[in-house]
Amino acid sequence: MYESANVPDDADRTAFRRAEKKYKLYYEQDSKFSRKKKLPKPVDLSALLDFDSILQNFYKNGVLPDGIKVAEADSPVFCIENRPGFYFIPGALSLEEQCKWIKESLKNFPQPPNRTNHNAIYGPIADLFDSAKENKVLVQEDPASETCINHNRWKFYDDEEDIAKAKRRGCKSVSASLLLRKLRWSTLGLQFDWSKRNYDVSLPHNEIPDALCQLAKTHAAIAMPIGEEFRPEGAIVNYFGLGDTLGGHLDDMEADWSKPIVSMSLGCKAIFLLGGKSKDDPPHAMYLRSGDVVLMAGEARECFHGVPRIFTDEENADIGALESELSRESGHFVAEYIKTSRININIRQVF
Ligand code: OGA
Ligand code: MN
Repeated sequence: MYESANVPDDADRTAFRRAEKKYKLYYEQDSKFSRKKKLPKPVDLSALLDFDSILQNFYKNGVLPDGIKVAEADSPVFCIENRPGFYFIPGALSLEEQCKWIKESLKNFPQPPNRTNHNAIYGPIADLFDSAKENKVLVQEDPASETCINHNRWKFYDDEEDIAKAKRRGCKSVSASLLLRKLRWSTLGLQFDWSKRNYDVSLPHNEIPDALCQLAKTHAAIAMPIGEEFRPEGAIVNYFGLGDTLGGHLDDMEADWSKPIVSMSLGCKAIFLLGGKSKDDPPHAMYLRSGDVVLMAGEARECFHGVPRIFTDEENADIGALESELSRESGHFVAEYIKTSRININIRQVF
């Protein structure tokens, strides 16, 4: 398990892997602490691009760090000189928009026929969010029961007596709140099949909501070929808890790479790595905050990228305003979820 610090093994082979390892959450090995409270290993964050402070400085005195440009004069959209096709729009979404899409991501986007990571084990699960809020438990239908038609049918129960009975009969069960915690992705519009890493157009799906399409179109415009309009056809929603990461990858299953992927960040702050066309190219590391939008088009579509870290501690998560707005307008449960989570919605034109 433990790799020696100075002998690089396979996992350390590329610059991208080394950056992932550098920023990933590790805990102190010191047993003195680990018994009581696991302490995260400190990491040097000084090399990170912080587009929030880049924006503040740009407004204040018009200066930009080396290698950073603005996309158009006066527009608060930033580019990185050696990564053409990559655009960073700090604070693109209002607090109200952030709240709306967080709620949608939890309540509606995981609803069947949209698929989630839970489909493979439990089949379609309806009303996961409300069930978690109501402390329900998902119970496997009793295979011995006469009414059992499908041995892999699961149903939510809230009556403790019923749950206990089913457990005594040997039925498997899992709480809705644990399933919500373990929700890692859902897909909107054209369904992306993770096992085949391709879009399966035969799968039934709900359309991407109009308001989300509009939002994506508005922000995509700056990265679009002149005279063309972005057509949102599929979206992947990623859910991150503390310690969850998204490994370095390319999104190469869409037909036309001149069209951007529009990627919205919600909830806790994260570190995003934008590499080059080879994993040997050292990646740019930057913060992604709630409300930031990133576009990847053209050459940037061929660049490896990933999320090695999210921050859930009060000092680094940077969601104070979001949290109070959320608990004011949609209650404690959503606010509690987002306090320790990040959601990413990335919207794609598939054809
Ligand atoms: C993806 C992706 C980035 C993010 O889902 O393909 O790159 O910010 N997500 O979570
Ligand atoms: Mn991606």
